Amino acid sequence: MQGGANNKGLVCLIAAAAVVLVFAGSSGIAAAQAAGLKKGFYKKSCPKAEEIAQRVVWNRVAGNPELAAKFLRMFFHDCFVRGCDASVLLDSASNTAEKNAAPNLSLAGFEVIEEVKAAVERECAGVVSCADIVALAARDSVSYQYRRSLWEVETGRRDGTVSSDQEALADIPAPTSTFPILLANFSAKGLGLQDLVVLSGGHTIGIGHCNLFSSRLFNFTGKNNPSDVDPSLNPSYARFLQGQCRRNQQDPNDNSTVVPMDPGSSVSFDSHYFVNLKARQGMFTSDATLLTDGRAAALVDKLRDPGVFLDHFKNSIKRMGQIGVLTGAAGQIRKRCNAVNS
Ligand code: HEM
Ligand SMILES: *[C@@H]1O[C@H](CO)[C@@H](O)[C@H](O)[C@H]1NC(C)=O
Ligand SMILES: *[C@@H]1O[C@H](CO)[C@@H](O)[C@H](O)[C@H]1NC(C)=O
Ligand SMILES: *[C@@H]1O[C@H](CO)[C@@H](O)[C@H](O)[C@H]1NC(C)=O
Ligand SMILES: *[C@@H]1O[C@H](CO)[C@@H](O)[C@H](O)[C@H]1NC(C)=O
Repeated sequence: MQGGANNKGLVCLIAAAAVVLVFAGSSGIAAAQAAGLKKGFYKKSCPKAEEIAQRVVWNRVAGNPELAAKFLRMFFHDCFVRGCDASVLLDSASNTAEKNAAPNLSLAGFEVIEEVKAAVERECAGVVSCADIVALAARDSVSYQYRRSLWEVETGRRDGTVSSDQEALADIPAPTSTFPILLANFSAKGLGLQDLVVLSGGHTIGIGHCNLFSSRLFNFTGKNNPSDVDPSLNPSYARFLQGQCRRNQQDPNDNSTVVPMDPGSSVSFDSHYFVNLKARQGMFTSDATLLTDGRAAALVDKLRDPGVFLDHFKNSIKRMGQIGVLTGAAGQIRKRCNAVNS
């Protein structure tokens, strides 16, 4: 009898494992590796951690609203390279780190992350990961203007020990990419079409460098004159960008000019990105291309509604925050965020 019960237990265990495997297989990397993350992971081990992070970030964002875009993008870059493991924060040591790769253009805010880390270490040393601080800083910086948290952040990530510029080059999607490429790049991280469209809404805040899109303005088919404009651009928006980026007509590599991605509302986290996009005012090819797929374009339509956008953003950024995380005993809790523990 006893043996029978045990066998039955074993069968159940195998069945459960099979279900987990099937589930992980069908929903990709994110779901498979999310085990170990939960809301309020530090509730017992460092009850004030999230409050401290919010206080430091809000203080800094109050004096520098552009930081919200920096932290949101930092979180994206962290998660897409080696998972959300704070690899984006490591300085180059024996090899060149992610933060020194070309796609890093304008990553910033590292000193504020260190400030949060130092404050949290004073409260409870060696407990809170840098990877979680990046996730919290993205949420808190973007939320500051609303004075309440816009989404829930799961915590429990641990920090990685490797950062490579080559991996950043391989894993950060390019602003010149078209829809099928972007979809493939997101799928490779366990994210789907809806996540791609919704998270692109991150471009409702922040800036872009002219050299990353000026071929759309002056040299779309290689003719190199101001009429050679990407026909998918709204003509008056194209003229606006041509004015802003005029230096790039002569020198396509000039990186001295930046333009707000959502003019008039570029520090406001809202659904205006999708209103602009629908009006063919997306800055990058990677934005404009979302209108070339039927399902994506239908979503763009819906996401113009502020409530719908925020609802969807909560879900997609939670999924992004689960990519390739280290949990449990994996990785380490760094003492400082820019270097692995010695
Ligand atoms: C779909 C693929 C994506 C591509 C190709 C892309 C590309 C870019 C590029 C080229 C810039 C301009 C950087 C600069 O000129 O300094 C940028 C800025 C930005 N991106 Fe993305 N991005 C993508 C997805 C995302 C996602 C998923 C998020 C976060 C949810 C995000 C958040 C931001 C933010 C906030 C900025 C402004 C940064 C600043 O003001 O310094 N992006 N992105
Ligand atoms: C980004 O990389 C360039 C070299 O490619 C480097 O000069 C710059 O300092 C890096 N930016 C950051 C924030 O580390
Ligand atoms: C901008 O261009 C200058 C000159 O080509 C280059 O030295 C610098 O590294 C570039 N900056 C970034 C952030 O790419
Ligand atoms: C994006 O996907 C394309 C197509 O699969 C692939 O060739 C490319 O290397 C990927 N790029 C990134 C940055 O993931
Ligand atoms: C214009 O585009 C063509 C073809 O892509 C390229 O060979 C040329 O260098 C570009 N010229 C400028 C000034 O951007």
